[in-house]
Amino acid sequence: MLARVLGVGAAVPERRVANREIEQRVDTNDEWIRTRTGIRERHVLGQSERLLDVVEIAARRALESSRVDAAELDAIIVGTVSGEYAFPAMACELQAALGIDGTAAFDVSAACSGFLYALSTANAHVKAGDFGTVLVVGADALTTMTDWTDRRTCVLFGDGAGALVLRRAEGERGVLASATHASGSMRDLLYVRVGPRGGFDATSARSPQACIQMRGPELFRWAVRRMRDVALEALERAGLAPADVDLVVPHQANLRIIKAVAESLDLPLEKIFVNVETYGNTSAASVPIALDEAVRTGRLREGDVALLVACGGGLTWAGAAVRW
Ligand code: ACO
Repeated sequence: MLARVLGVGAAVPERRVANREIEQRVDTNDEWIRTRTGIRERHVLGQSERLLDVVEIAARRALESSRVDAAELDAIIVGTVSGEYAFPAMACELQAALGIDGTAAFDVSAACSGFLYALSTANAHVKAGDFGTVLVVGADALTTMTDWTDRRTCVLFGDGAGALVLRRAEGERGVLASATHASGSMRDLLYVRVGPRGGFDATSARSPQACIQMRGPELFRWAVRRMRDVALEALERAGLAPADVDLVVPHQANLRIIKAVAESLDLPLEKIFVNVETYGNTSAASVPIALDEAVRTGRLREGDVALLVACGGGLTWAGAAVRW
């Protein structure tokens, strides 16, 4: 028995911020941002908008593409660090928004690796027979925790949500293997202290101490190494080699990181899915948003082997091999 992916969905806020608009705020320019990160624009949560509304749209799209009714779910697991409440979990809020009751619902906190941690958790529960059908979500709004006067970080992030439905099924399609890791001793490389919500269009700024703190160049090196290691580990657990992979769907942090990971796995860029240009780094949402686009554009088809890989604050890193 495997946990098969039945369908996927994604959503982003309407408000788009192009690099040129950030040029008005800080001493940066479109060329620097594009060449150092690959990012051209990102979607940001509007002042009257809630991330939960975006999450609900992504979840409904995933359910629709899976032809699954919300009432059929046994569990909802959300990878996020952007909940409005310390508790209840965003998963509980989503459960209520979907109009269902009684299913297990909880969040997983692993920053940019949150979706893959949630997927790995869901997979383990499905394989153990605890849950038959699970909604797995990745959602974040890091632009609300960004210091919009700090050019080193504010150009990087975007907001959004993505989701997929897993169901226990016979056959060869499904999550073949996953791997998750963390290094708490590296927590200072990237963190945010809890604070009130801010945002690109916010009228009052969040205090700089409550915004994203990042040691970018160090993080860059760790991200490449960890994503390569965990990709190979997930593949090995699945009994596969890089050459067996049809499409790598990496966390979309930075085009240069993605290219370096591809090179370290000796995989051509045609096998790597990239959409960082239009979304920026959406943290836990980036892998499911990319998966959704890969499926809709025909890059990922039934039977293909997808390699998912991410690295983020914690530090955390995770990978999964999935026969689609
Ligand atoms: N615009 C213009 N200049 C800038 C900007 C900017 N937005 N940001 C930094 N600079 C300047 C710096 O001040 C520095 O100038 P100096 O040489 O005069 O001091 C110069 O550009 C080079 O700065 P570096 O930080 O060395 O630039 P680097 O090439 O490392 O790129 C970046 C920075 C893009 C942040 C890179 O380090 C990176 O992507 N790191 C990973 C960060 C990341 O992805 N974090 C997200 C979470 S972790 C994850 O998802 C994997």
